[in-house]
This record gives sequence, C-alpha cells and structure tokens, in this order.
Amino acid sequence: MPFTTKPLKSLIADRIANRVVIIDQTLLPFAVERKILSSWQDCAEAIRAMRVRGAPLIGVTAAFGIALAMSKDATDESLFTACRDIAATRPTAVNLAWAIERMRRPLIAIDPAARPDAAWDEASKIAAEDETCNQQIGIYGLGIIREIYARTHRPVNILTHCNAGRMACLDWGTATAPIYLAHQAGVPVHVWVEETRPRNQGLITEWELAQAGVPHTYVVDNSGGHLMQHNKVDMVIVGVDRVSRRGDVANKIGTYLKALAARDNGIPFYAAAPTSSIDFSIEDGVPEIEIEERDRSEVAAIRGWDSNGSISEVRILKAETAVSNPGFDVTPSRLVTALITERGIFMPNQLAALATEVAI
Ligand code: MRU
Repeated sequence: MPFTTKPLKSLIADRIANRVVIIDQTLLPFAVERKILSSWQDCAEAIRAMRVRGAPLIGVTAAFGIALAMSKDATDESLFTACRDIAATRPTAVNLAWAIERMRRPLIAIDPAARPDAAWDEASKIAAEDETCNQQIGIYGLGIIREIYARTHRPVNILTHCNAGRMACLDWGTATAPIYLAHQAGVPVHVWVEETRPRNQGLITEWELAQAGVPHTYVVDNSGGHLMQHNKVDMVIVGVDRVSRRGDVANKIGTYLKALAARDNGIPFYAAAPTSSIDFSIEDGVPEIEIEERDRSEVAAIRGWDSNGSISEVRILKAETAVSNPGFDVTPSRLVTALITERGIFMPNQLAALATEVAI
C-alpha cells in the first residue's frame, strides 16, 4: 500500500480476548480514538451510532457481534435475539442483513456447543474476504483509470462522494481501491473529494487520501456539476450501500445528483460494488430500497476544531426549524455506466446473471 505511515485498521477482532477493537468514527478526523466492543449489544450500538460506518464495515461488525453473542450464550434464543436486534440498527446497507444471514444460517444448523468457534471462524472469513474483494475491485477499476490516462495523457480527475474508503471497509475501500492502485502504479490521479453533508464523510476520505499521499482537493457537495461542466472530472467513482437486481444504486445522499450531472456532461459514472451489496430480491431500487431517515441534530449543527484546537460543535438552526435528513438516495441504473465488482465490470443489466453465483 502506498501509505506514508502504516494505515490504521477500522476494526481488529481479538478472538482470544473475546473482543473487537474499532476506531470510533464519530470522532474522525478530529481525533483517533479506539473503542472496545465486548458484546453484541456494543456492536449494535456502534453500528447505530455510526462509530463504525460504511456498508462493508457494518456487515463485518454485525458478524463479529454475533460471534460475541455465541461466545457468551450459544442457545437458539441468543442467536435469534442478536441477529434480530443487530439487523434493526440501520436499514439501507444490505451488507448488514447479508452478513447476519451468512452467520445465522450455518450456526442454527449445528450443535450449540460448536457455535462459538464456528461463529468466530465465519466472521473472520467475512472480514478477510472484504480485503480480497476490495483489492479485486481495485484491479478492475485500475484498468478503467489506465484507459482514461492513455487517452488524455494528463492526471485522471476522479470525483467521489462520501467515504467508500478504508474506514468504510476493512482495507483498501471500495471506491478508493482503484485510486490507490493507480497511484501505486504511477498513473497520475487527482481526486475531487465531496464534503458529504451532513455527516461530512468526505473529511474521512480526505484524511485517508492524505495519509496515502494521493493528490486531492476537498470541495463542497454542490461543486460537482460545475467541475464536470468545465472538464475537470474524467470519471465519477462512488461506493454503494445496496444495489438492486437491475443495477439501481443506493448510496449516500447526493449521489443521484452527481450521476445526473455526469450523464449531462458525458462523464462515466461508476459504482464500486462488492457483490455482497447486491440485493437480488429487489428489482426497482427507487420504491423498494428503504432509505434511512436520520436525526435532525446532524443537520442542525456543524462540528470542527475551534480556535483553541478543541473539537467543538456549533448550532446553525433554530430548534423550531423543520428538518428532513434522508441518509441515502437511489441512482437509477440508466445513469450508471458500469458496476465495478470483485468479479469483474458489469453493465447494470448484466447483474441479475450473478445471482446464483454469489448466493450464500
Ligand atoms: O452512512 P454511512 O457513512 O454508513 O454511509 C455509507 C457510506 O459510507 C457510503 O454511502 C459509501 O459510499 C458506501 S459504503 C462503501
């Protein structure tokens, strides 16, 4: 990896100590603090409070939550309760339900005495697969970046939205994997990092790219269309939280507008999508994917360093102002150039064919 210092891991599972250590992402990038999760309830709280976030990482955290539950009490009832309550933490990213089902199905079929070991094995497998999956996405995405560079002979300008980077995953990130590989291979890239109000996940992307020495510029969310009109964007790569069978992409709120602007300006729009994020039970993503409505407090205040260098928050809205805060939107497949998965690059209408191959 092209990092100037050893990159931090978003999650480390310690089977011997029976605990999971995360970086509390509610504090990033202002402070790096680790938090120990010792029970499935801790894992559920961490997902709900967005101490861990990003579709792949919440799936992995859920899996280790179930492993922690099995270490404590391996009965059917304990398995059922942990699966049900962890699944209820956040609704949009399908990796959560996917990881829970991958844990639940084999565990329920075996003797309770064998469950703790089997659960830790399966959760560790899900975590390890995330790393190889993202590396594969990186390899396929690198091909696209190389092709643009061969045509333009100037740094490839990539616009991304939210954080689909290392902190949203176990390693590499989904949308950032092709970027890291290009940078490592000497293909010049420059990333436009969108702020991503209200939670400002763009700050985490900026923090990650800075550590890796990847050239980038931080912009507010509304800049994307303008940059595209002025030939300052060669491609858009975003992550995904859930993809429908026909290739509609649910991702962080604001993604849809980037896809519209990209189409209007003839710029390719790619979604970096692990197959664990494809929900083959859903056809039309706009009506069928549940969009998380988040708390008004995220919109009503902004956090940052104050003049003393301490983390502080300022309110920007009056208490009586009505607020709507949808966390995600759905980009219809017609606006998606292709999906970069760990199994290759697919047009949206080719995804359905993968259903049997990736069934759990
Ligand atoms: O609400 P978050 O921060 O958990 O949102 C999820 C995301 O990080 C993004 O939508 C991302 O682009 C997809 S996760 C690789």
